[in-house]
Amino acid sequence: RLQHALPRILLEWYDQNARLLPWRKDCIPYHIWLSEIMLQQTRVEVVKTYYTRFLEEIPTVEELAQTDEQKLLKLWEGLGYYSRARNLQKTARRIVDEYVGHFPETYEQLLKLPGVGPYTAGAIASICFGQPVPAVDGNVLRVISRIMGLDDRVKASEGKKLITASLVEIYPKDRSGDFTQSLMELGATVCLPKGTPKCRICPVSTFCKAFQNNTGLHWSGKQNK
Ligand code: ADE
Repeated sequence: RLQHALPRILLEWYDQNARLLPWRKDCIPYHIWLSEIMLQQTRVEVVKTYYTRFLEEIPTVEELAQTDEQKLLKLWEGLGYYSRARNLQKTARRIVDEYVGHFPETYEQLLKLPGVGPYTAGAIASICFGQPVPAVDGNVLRVISRIMGLDDRVKASEGKKLITASLVEIYPKDRSGDFTQSLMELGATVCLPKGTPKCRICPVSTFCKAFQNNTGLHWSGKQNK
């Protein structure tokens, strides 16, 4: 089980250390959704410029629904995984047609959108709508696996379930979105994969089983498929 003090300590750290990223300037669902789709397969540094340019060209979900496919693919050029761009537009049309341009606000409704899985639904629900639901991506899986001392041999699907359930119990209701982002931030800047986690500057190392057992330094956090 995770300690109930974890959110408070991580949020304090996040307030001091969060990188100022373009998708952290507001919580507009269209923006957060776009950033999370881009970030699924592309690094933060690369996404920064693509994200900003995309929103300059296509500032609303209505405009995305009507954008010419050639223009869309041009904006996506270099990001790869072009099906992401096509799915994005398909979902935009759905949001315009079925929800008159308003993003659905609950985790369950978000999950029904094409291309939106548990991770993206959790990210949008917590960041935009303040719902206390986790968003477990590879970073968060690694961070929490280490804190809880989960064995690498735990299957990824089982690990994800266990981690999601453990996080649900401690999610802070007043700052759900920031807590989601603080976990991602810790994974991206401190609790790094492979040889180099920066345990010495980690705000939650005292809670961390992998650190206590001295396994943190070589623990990939990757689990069996
Ligand atoms: N990776 C996935 N989502 C992210 C976010 N919101 N901020 C930073 N890195 C991320």
